[in-house]
Formats: sequence, C-alpha cells, structure tokens
Amino acid sequence: MSDSPPHPLGLAGRHVLITGAGGGIGRAMVAAFAGAGAIVSGADQDAAMLAELPLAHRLVFDLTDAKASADAFANLAEAGAAPHVLVNNAGFTRGETLDQVDETVWERELAINLTGAFHISKPVAESMARRGGGAIVFIASVNGLGHYGNPAYSAAKAGLIAYAKSIAVEMGEKGIRANVVCPGSVRTPAWDHRLAKDPAILEDVISHYPLGRMVRPEDVANATLFLASPLSAGITGAVLPVDGGLTAGNLRFVRDIIERRA
Ligand SMILES: NC(=O)c1ccc[n+]([C@@H]2O[C@H](COP(=O)([O-])OP(=O)(O)OC[C@H]3O[C@@H](n4cnc5c(N)ncnc54)[C@H](O)[C@@H]3O)[C@@H](O)[C@H]2O)c1
Repeated sequence: MSDSPPHPLGLAGRHVLITGAGGGIGRAMVAAFAGAGAIVSGADQDAAMLAELPLAHRLVFDLTDAKASADAFANLAEAGAAPHVLVNNAGFTRGETLDQVDETVWERELAINLTGAFHISKPVAESMARRGGGAIVFIASVNGLGHYGNPAYSAAKAGLIAYAKSIAVEMGEKGIRANVVCPGSVRTPAWDHRLAKDPAILEDVISHYPLGRMVRPEDVANATLFLASPLSAGITGAVLPVDGGLTAGNLRFVRDIIERRA
C-alpha cells in the first residue's frame, strides 16, 4: 500500500477522454490530468498529433463523422476505459469575418465545433448515465459570449453553451454535470495562420487584455481540471470565462475614452 495521500483533485484512477488532445491546449490538458493521477485517453484526427503524449489510449478519428465517433467510443468502452470525464476540446476556424463566411465555411465550422462535440458527447453521456454519473467540460470561447470575429465558429461556440446547459438540466438527476470554459486568446498552433500574415499581431492582442497577457494553455487546463473534479461537485450548467478579463469590460474604451479625459 502507498503511504502517499490521495490526490486532492479526486481524479486519480478516473478515466478521462480529451478531444483535440494533440493541439496546443489539448497537450496542456493531457499533462494536467495525467499529473492529477487520471488515466488519460486522447482523441485527434491525425495519429502523429498524439504520438508523443503520455496516453493510455489513442483514438484517431474525425469528429465530423458520426459513425467514426460512435465506433471510437465503443472501442474505448470495450477496452474498459469508458470515460468518467469527457473534455470536448477539439476546434477549428478560418472564416475570420462575415465576408469570408460562405455556405461551405459555415457548414464546416458548425460541423467541427458543434456537431462534432455532439457526436462524441451523446454516447459518452449515455454511458455515464448507465454508470451513475460523470463530468463533461466543453471548451467554447469568448466568441460564444460576444463577437470577436469568426462568425460561424462563434455561432458554434454559443451552440456548445446551449448544448452543455441541456445536458446539465436534463441529465443532472443521472449524476452528470456539464460545464463550459470560455478561453480568451491562447498562443497555440490555432494562431499560426494569423502570425504568418502578421508576426506582430500578438502585441496588438495583448493590449485588449486587462491582465496584460494572453491566456496560457495551462490556465485553460487548470480551469478544466477544476470543473472535471469533485471540487466542483455542486457546479453544473456554468460558463466560466478564462479570458484574462477580456469579457469583464472594454479596457481600450476605458483607456482611450475615460482615463484620457478624467
Ligand atoms: N487558441 C485560442 O486562442 C483559443 C481561444 C478560445 C478557444 N479556443 C478553443 O480551444 C480549443 C483548443 O484550441 P487550440 O488553440 O489548442 O487549437 P489547436 O489547433 O492547437 O488544436 C485543436 C485540435 O483539434 C483537432 N481537431 C480539429 N478538427 C478536428 C476534427 N474534425 N476531428 C478531430 N480532431 C479535430 C486538431 O487536429 C487539433 O489537434 C478549441 O476548441 C478552440 O476553439 C482556443
């Protein structure tokens, strides 16, 4: 028997499935949950993204494919790793403004960011209900709370918030909690295409953030750990911005309009 005290987050030995595990935030989540003693499975669309990660199970499939998602969950359950915790973290956007959003962009961004989360959450939530409980955390965005560009992605992220609340309300009596994390700007590969166009963009980003910095992948991972753990046992249907204060108010308005004339 080990003399070490139980891990305070209460996630030791729990099965956790993280989608988009090979991305910038996903990698920080894998490290955080593994550090809390959880048994972590990672899903992504490309096996190479998962290769180096300390995962118990690697699930390679496209979340926009309903059958592939159901099959991946069935295989995981058969391996004895049906999740106690699901983190819906995979996401993607390229349609920056309304003029870039045509039918194709709209459908693709809704499919990846909203319908993809549904494809995996439905079988996982049903299995959690059979087992008597579980926790689901959706990684939405500040874009689901207000408009910061990327209209189709934003609509999908707002949809995730509504979907999480429906699980919280309808499945609460089954012991299932569903909560949402809304990150602000995080320097991950998701920013590479913007940085390629303008290497100075991150300095401009920072000037919008009351904390004077971008959000770190670890900030998102830590908030997710909390919402996945028994420490948040009384919290469901909640929407938690992890945004360096971006949605608390308009810093540039205060600086440019109020302070300058005070
Ligand atoms: N980086 C930011 O500034 C930021 C801000 C707010 C919210 N978010 C959200 O955080 C989450 C993680 O973002 P990130 O910055 O780590 O991005 P990332 O691009 O580094 O990682 C996203 C991961 O999702 C995977 N993925 C995308 N489409 C998929 C599909 N159809 N099937 C399976 N896997 C798929 C990708 O392969 C990738 O590994 C996303 O939901 C994103 O919308 C990011």
